[in-house]
Amino acid sequence: MNLSYRAEAEGLFSQLVAWRRDLHRHPELSFQEVRTSGIVARTLLDLGYEVRTGVAQTGVVALLHGGRPGPTVMLRADMDALPIQESSEASYASAHPGVMHACGHDGHVAMGLGAATLLARHAAELAGNILFVFQPAEERDGGAAAMLASGALHDPKPDIIFGLHLWNTLPAGRVIVQAGPFMAAADVLRIVVRGRGGHGGLPHETIDAIAVTGQVLTALQTIVSRNVNPHDTAVLSIGMVHGGTAFNVIAETVELLGTLRTFEPTVRETVLARLRVLLDGVTAGMGAEAELIVEPLTGPVINDPTASETARLAALQLVGNAAVGRITPLMVSEDFAEYGKLAPSCFILLGSGNAELGLDAPHHSPRFDFDERVLPTGAALLAAVATRYLVEKAGT
Ligand code: NI
Repeated sequence: MNLSYRAEAEGLFSQLVAWRRDLHRHPELSFQEVRTSGIVARTLLDLGYEVRTGVAQTGVVALLHGGRPGPTVMLRADMDALPIQESSEASYASAHPGVMHACGHDGHVAMGLGAATLLARHAAELAGNILFVFQPAEERDGGAAAMLASGALHDPKPDIIFGLHLWNTLPAGRVIVQAGPFMAAADVLRIVVRGRGGHGGLPHETIDAIAVTGQVLTALQTIVSRNVNPHDTAVLSIGMVHGGTAFNVIAETVELLGTLRTFEPTVRETVLARLRVLLDGVTAGMGAEAELIVEPLTGPVINDPTASETARLAALQLVGNAAVGRITPLMVSEDFAEYGKLAPSCFILLGSGNAELGLDAPHHSPRFDFDERVLPTGAALLAAVATRYLVEKAGT
């Protein structure tokens, strides 16, 4: 198999860095990735891919035919940046105030283009197709779901799907591949507590929405600790509480915003059911009312066992035993989960942190930056995983 990918990808290093730094300097928010997708589309066209643009607004889908027919491997990269003001002295720091590649998606695009370069060079040796998906709007706006809904991923329909995320809390070069639950499902929770406003000095004539909210917040903390089986996993966090207008006015309403993270649908249902009962019970007991709106963001990333084994073996061959490992599943979420509805899938993490170089700020931090020396590894890994799958299938 293509042991040469590693060396070939190292040969692309300066190109990978150039792509990444250009994208980093010109970050674009969800569904606004016009410049980014233009660069992606032009590069893939030059490499000989069949390219479709404007998929789900700003997405790009590109197909490479191997020398012989066979199954289709999909590789996904996300392209969007975040509404964060970058704090960086780097020459490639964001030129767009308030917008920043703070999650490494600039690196994902660069590695995707690198893998596309490697696979195009070796197209004649491949028995099957490579389907690249450069996806908009991973961060907030459901880009993966929009790509699926566009229908562009059904011709040809992929037989297997891989994706890769740089991960700054792991040392540069470490590869995490594992089967099973990997990243959590996420819901947005919107709660409105309604009482009856009035004069701060006449509380007996009011129903104090802030006092009710205090009880609600305390009660919610019992759901995970008292209602969820200790062997299961759930996180219920309230991140915003807004209520009140003046020191001497009792608030009529309070709005809360939070998130629920789970792996198992049954656990999610348990938490939501208890949430409704507690909200209704606590607020009714104090004469108030509550409204709950649950907005599902994404399901859990569950790595398919067969896809994960293919990815693991490719990683072992590429970076060696010592660099490949496992971690405790993460409570962050990723809309890569959506692609699991289309075909067996596996999401891989590539360590990109380097504390010695000061490149270890967490994702979504204004100081986020990563060790660019992992870019060739990521490009080679994507190409190697896809190639390994096609070789495995050709041999069966
Ligand atoms: Ni990300």
